[in-house]
Amino acid sequence: MKTMQLCLLVLFNILVLAGLWGQKNAKTQRVVAVKPTISKEQLIDSLLAKMTLDEKLGQMTLFTTDWGSTGPTIREGFENDIRSGRCGALFNSHTVEFTKRLQKIAMEESRLKIPLLFGYDVIHGYKTMFPVPLGEAASWDLQAMELSAYIMAKEAAAAGLHWTYAPMVDITREPRWGRVMEGAGEDTYLGSRIAEARVRGIQGDGFAKADRMVACVKHFAAYGAPVAGRDYATVDMSERMLRDIYLPPYKAAVKAGAMTVMTSFNEYDGVPASGNRFLLQNILRDEWKFDGFVVSDYTSVTEMINHGVVKDETDAGILAIQAGVDMDMQGGIYQEKVKAGLKDGRLTMQQIDNSVRRILDIKYALGLFDDPYRFCDADREKKVIMSPEHIAAARDVARKSIVLLKNDKATLPIRADKKRVLVVGALADDKENMLGAWSGSGEARHCVTLLEGLQSYAATSGVVVDYVKGCAIEGDDKNGFTEALMKAKDADVIIMAIGESRDMSGEAAARAIIHVPGVQADLLKLMKATGRPVVTIVMSGRPLILTDVHTHSDALLEAWFLGSQAGNALTDVLFGKYNPSAKLPISFPRHEGQIPVFYSQKNTGRPYDPTIKWNSRYLDMPNEPMYSFGYGLSYSHFTYSLPKVDKSVFTENETLTVSVDVTNTSDVDGEEIVQLYLRDLVGSVTRPVKELKGFRKLLIQKGQTVTVTFQLTKEDLSFYRKDMTWGCEPGEFDVFVGPSSDTQNKVRVVLK
Ligand code: NOJ
Repeated sequence: MKTMQLCLLVLFNILVLAGLWGQKNAKTQRVVAVKPTISKEQLIDSLLAKMTLDEKLGQMTLFTTDWGSTGPTIREGFENDIRSGRCGALFNSHTVEFTKRLQKIAMEESRLKIPLLFGYDVIHGYKTMFPVPLGEAASWDLQAMELSAYIMAKEAAAAGLHWTYAPMVDITREPRWGRVMEGAGEDTYLGSRIAEARVRGIQGDGFAKADRMVACVKHFAAYGAPVAGRDYATVDMSERMLRDIYLPPYKAAVKAGAMTVMTSFNEYDGVPASGNRFLLQNILRDEWKFDGFVVSDYTSVTEMINHGVVKDETDAGILAIQAGVDMDMQGGIYQEKVKAGLKDGRLTMQQIDNSVRRILDIKYALGLFDDPYRFCDADREKKVIMSPEHIAAARDVARKSIVLLKNDKATLPIRADKKRVLVVGALADDKENMLGAWSGSGEARHCVTLLEGLQSYAATSGVVVDYVKGCAIEGDDKNGFTEALMKAKDADVIIMAIGESRDMSGEAAARAIIHVPGVQADLLKLMKATGRPVVTIVMSGRPLILTDVHTHSDALLEAWFLGSQAGNALTDVLFGKYNPSAKLPISFPRHEGQIPVFYSQKNTGRPYDPTIKWNSRYLDMPNEPMYSFGYGLSYSHFTYSLPKVDKSVFTENETLTVSVDVTNTSDVDGEEIVQLYLRDLVGSVTRPVKELKGFRKLLIQKGQTVTVTFQLTKEDLSFYRKDMTWGCEPGEFDVFVGPSSDTQNKVRVVLK
């Protein structure tokens, strides 16, 4: 096998070289005796010189295989497209066996033998599943997120994949939108830092060891702001909001080196993203100097017809290429429809060549021209995937992602004298849902449920675990309630696992009502009425309305969908082996009527005051969410000193140092996420009442005080000013440092 590969490679190099010599030195046709060291430019120039238009458009074409689909269409005959050079990249194809088989078609049966690029949505794990990205974001632990991105890339790369459609960095303030689960939540600063960490984890320093993948930042741009929270819906926002709030995480990911970008389904300023030159050329390429390639989202080029900006597929393809989309995902439009544009002058060969070059660049960077089967090592695949270290990391990241929302009377951690534990609820022993949406090739059978986690703990601790499901996630069947009630009588503590199913969030999964579905909340109420302490675990891919759940729980944990190690991670938290440290990356509304509710609001001309009528408020509920951005409890208690600054008047060229003393006043060691927010009191345009500008996650031992220091620079004070230039303005600023976005712990400074 190896020998055959080698022969093919040598043959390929000779062919390429022969082409080069033929092109550069037609008179002296000879074969160089030494092994050629061919530069990337030489290689790509020579290929471009040989490619037919069909082959060029083929490199710009991406199809899903029949392995699975992640969109509404499936295309037959992709293998023939590989043979004829009319498809240069595939997605939804994985495992060494499968990718190798397809790569062989490209390498042995296509004319130019250009290796295929294999992509897949590896979003929060390939086989070892980590928490859904919104859950991981709750850890605020950049190292942990970088590690989980690395592990997922390592596993996927071992399974023959080169390219993942991650990170998704869409800021959103829309809990109804199902894709809230895929991102890092509502905040620009936190989202940007997480975007960088995930890119670093996926791409590392490159592909020297073939254990990294090419990252694809998505969905460019502003996909997270669909009208009314419906997926694929219109986005309408000012350029100021786009630039201040929505663009920074994409930019951070690009600056961190992400090599590809995916367009979004939505329009921006009346033009669908896949045809939006302002986004793709002016911002992405001209301003940010992005030099990788841009791929459309699934048939989003074709969908520009439905959007109503083009009349047919030819116009759609031409508009997309003109705007800067190098690769068409699944639509087949480039392959079939855009040639007309070259004939009538709407497209130039140069534009096509530029796109092909960018794509070949990345194949080259991956080392595929040296060895198209670099990622196809079956031994490595076996060894790497679901290794014990990966599983241990999944457990650790999962427990770091669990947010303690309520803990009355120190119900948690469950004390040693609580021997009889009753586990109740639709999600308590459910493997499938632990995977969350976008679960790569994760398998339910590998997931540890809450019940299983507790049972393993019981085996060594003397705790006795009983279980009753009680009801399903959906539906109104209450037949299981009686058994739950009976068993509750013998319990020292009841642990309930309720929430959504995994397919209630993710793509095309918007919900208008975001309460806990079915009769689960009724069952909770019944359990609470027994007088036994009730610990509720909510599993969801979005913020749910937990107002009633809060009332009927003594302790409450938001557990998202935690992945392969869900049950073990939860058990660690429930019994105090891990002290919860996560904080919400998005606000949880009290009611759907408050949406969008987020911390970084503007003050308005009539700021909120619940005691008087004529201001910006609801008559029937407070403005504040149920749980704010940045909120989360711990088994420890922390107190904060007033923030101190090294100077209260400073210039934009100076760094402002802010410090605060944080004390762990409890008798248990714990991690705290110390958050710094800024308010610019007067601006040439209105400024938010608070903006996160820094955070530190640190372990503080019981009784210990730690001084936490932040440095603020001009960059932190800057925004798009009235004239749309980026910079800061002199005046007063409030600097807040505290445990959540609710903090009022502040100091005032003046920028001269
Ligand atoms: C559509 C989704 O919007 C995108 O996130 C995903 O990467 C592609 N389908 C490919 O599955």
